[in-house]
Amino acid sequence: MKAHVDKETCIGCELCPNICPEVFRMEDDGLAVAIDVEVPSDNEDTAKEAEEACPVDAIEVS
Ligand code: F3S
Repeated sequence: MKAHVDKETCIGCELCPNICPEVFRMEDDGLAVAIDVEVPSDNEDTAKEAEEACPVDAIEVS
């Protein structure tokens, strides 16, 4: 499973690192990134939760 944040779409709401800090983090520009493209199997459920929670659909986990 892979995670990707579209920085063009992210508005920096910080929900994703709050829900799944193992997979997402905020950068100095105030926008989120996926720490590693590959999602550790233990974090797949919370990464999916973050994908669903993002208010602007900037996250793709698949
Ligand atoms: Fe950005 Fe969505 Fe995360 S707006 S900070 S990618 S929850």
